Amino acid sequence: QAFFKPISRADPPSPTKRHTKISVVGAGNVGMAIAQTILTQDVADELVIVDVNPNKLRGEMLDLQHAAAFLPRTKIMASVDYAVTVGSDLCIVTAGARQNPGESRLNLLQRNVSLFRNIIPPLVKYSPDTILLIVSNPVDVLTYVAWKLSGLPSNRVIGSGTNLDSSRFRFLIADHLDVNAQDVQAYIVGEHGDSSVALWSSISVGGVPVLNFLEKQQIAYEKETLENIHKAVVESAYEVISLKGYTSWAIGYSAANLARSILRDQRKIHPVSVLAKGFYGVEGGDVFLSLPAQLGRGGVLGVANIHLTDEEAQRLRDSANTILEVQAQLNL
Ligand code: NAI
Ligand code: LAC
Repeated sequence: QAFFKPISRADPPSPTKRHTKISVVGAGNVGMAIAQTILTQDVADELVIVDVNPNKLRGEMLDLQHAAAFLPRTKIMASVDYAVTVGSDLCIVTAGARQNPGESRLNLLQRNVSLFRNIIPPLVKYSPDTILLIVSNPVDVLTYVAWKLSGLPSNRVIGSGTNLDSSRFRFLIADHLDVNAQDVQAYIVGEHGDSSVALWSSISVGGVPVLNFLEKQQIAYEKETLENIHKAVVESAYEVISLKGYTSWAIGYSAANLARSILRDQRKIHPVSVLAKGFYGVEGGDVFLSLPAQLGRGGVLGVANIHLTDEEAQRLRDSANTILEVQAQLNL
């Protein structure tokens, strides 16, 4: 006897909305922060977690399932077998080694490239139409590696990039000006790392260009303050890693924010790692780095043509060259 007695329908049942499925690879600090945020923010109908550690996987899956009474309904699965990812709309890759205190992201490259050889092909085999969102570090080079290993078109291979750095930048500017970070529009572009580039000319507060905002608020414009804020952004991860051993919460919100923009076809502009060759004078090879890109259900819909000063454009090209130099070590 079914619990619900079906009612008679004069018309056929309305087509259900499209089922959306996200797979997260890596059940570590970052992968679980992303998973938890996806559940809390009701981003997908189905969430799958993959890792090489079966006990960790099952423990994390059960622990999340036990929160079902407090969350929007989401089917949660986990397995070491990539078959569980079949038909994913979005695959978020967080697997890999993380920085030790004081270690640069670029130093993780060789360890994580070898992991990607075992991760990317099965993801694409089971979900040929998926979009890949790469989080593992060094994220820009690993996004390039994922693109090469997957054979997917570049619009469907995205790195979380400086979406996180820009969030830190917006927080620090908002804190300095005593305004809400959501009213601060500011981009950091280039490498997610030490050579990132702050786009001063793009900063606005409540829609007002920051320099005009400072004048109107009679706040002295100290270029040094803005430079120090960017330095603090670059230092952020090193400081958090030295204190708690890793970063997780901010990247959790950042990646879930990107997942929502993609799966809900928000057509929002995010600074994320995209195939940058040909934009803003970036040449010299196929390089992924962060530019303000419009995201939707098709992945990268386009790159915003925002104004860069000559200095900002040159620093972006320098950042691209830093990544290309590291990328040259690869033998894919
Ligand atoms: P973690 O060590 O907590 O988790 C890594 C997970 O990967 C572990 O559970 C491990 O079992 C799993 N794993 C290892 N090999 C695997 C494989 N072949 N297939 C599937 N899973 C595998 O590390 P954490 O803190 O989660 O960091 C993960 C990565 O994310 C690091 O590379 C870190 O640098 C990066 N990260 C990137 C950020 C960004 O803004 N792009 C921000 C924070 C971290
Ligand atoms: C970050 C490092 C870990 O949190 O990529 O920015």
